[in-house]
Amino acid sequence: MVSKKMQDALNGQMNAELYSAYLYLAMAAYYEDSDLPGFANWMRVQAQEEMTHAMKFYDYLVQRGARVVLDTIEKPPFEWESPLNVSEHVLAHEKKVTGLINDLVNFALEEKDHATNNFLQYFVAEQVEEEESVGSVLQKVRLAVDSSSGLLMVDSELAQRVFNPPVAEK
Ligand SMILES: [Fe+2]
Ligand SMILES: [Fe+2]
Repeated sequence: MVSKKMQDALNGQMNAELYSAYLYLAMAAYYEDSDLPGFANWMRVQAQEEMTHAMKFYDYLVQRGARVVLDTIEKPPFEWESPLNVSEHVLAHEKKVTGLINDLVNFALEEKDHATNNFLQYFVAEQVEEEESVGSVLQKVRLAVDSSSGLLMVDSELAQRVFNPPVAEK
């Protein structure tokens, strides 16, 4: 069993992951509208990954006999100034999520909840990967920002990304 406070914190993180999916889907829609289908594809895959993160929290809550509580998901932005602006927003958002995960780990340690700490370590590693991959897209966009042909090259590269569903651990 997890404590009531821990249950609330895990439900809160599930909501944050759902918001991430919602935010990235909004960014995908912005890119579709900007005729950058590769960027849109990348954001769609990113949104699918965030859904799997949310489901990991869902499944863990169920596994621990805790109650899954679905709260309101905040409305994401609708417009961005440019692809550079979106890419900067993605990195800032991932850094924010890393902070949330770190806070959760601190809380698990405070509560001496080693099982939850162990569960969260997947996300500690995941956030390192997320910041790295998002950072490298941002770097490419920065380099391409002054030429539309550069941006189209990045677009066709990002079109290649496919969603790999996580393999079941059980
Ligand atoms: Fe996530
Ligand atoms: Fe993420």
